[in-house]
Amino acid sequence: MKLAIYPGSFDPVTNGHLDLVERGAKLFDRLVVAVLRNLDKEPLFSLDERVEMLREATSGKTNVEVDVFDGLLVEYVRRRKANVILRGIRAISDYEYELQMAMMNRKLEPTIETVFMMPAEPYSYLSAHLVREIARLGGPLDGLIPSAVEQRLRAKFS
Ligand code: PNS
Repeated sequence: MKLAIYPGSFDPVTNGHLDLVERGAKLFDRLVVAVLRNLDKEPLFSLDERVEMLREATSGKTNVEVDVFDGLLVEYVRRRKANVILRGIRAISDYEYELQMAMMNRKLEPTIETVFMMPAEPYSYLSAHLVREIARLGGPLDGLIPSAVEQRLRAKFS
């Protein structure tokens, strides 16, 4: 069985993330969306909120699970007995950071492969960071995030 781990901050989950979940769930037998517990910077949404939004958004997918991790990603991947890390690449600007992480993870655990997938074009410029900023400034977010996430964002900034 091919199990892949899709790690990230998901603060909050966007339609770009969900596009990748959709693609990953088709490619692998099982996909675990792994939410990083401790972010370097203070997240807008708590861990529980980030997990809840992801669970709501992926509830229709039987081979997708949402979990939490802390510490080194490769250790979590090993613990879950997976051997694939799934990451999304939007533009060339993502590449350098993603390459660095993938190579470092390979150095830490050579048996784990990182697989990159591109989201659908409308999400190629979408990021959780921009979503937070637009929400803070009261701008429209149509088509970029699930409506339940938008409601929570609007509540945060109301
Ligand atoms: O959504 P993000 O913020 O781009 O996700 C980054 C994430 C969570 C994948 C990365 O920060 C990570 O793997 N953190 C766990 C700690 C770790 O293993 N660091 C070494 C990576 S080479």
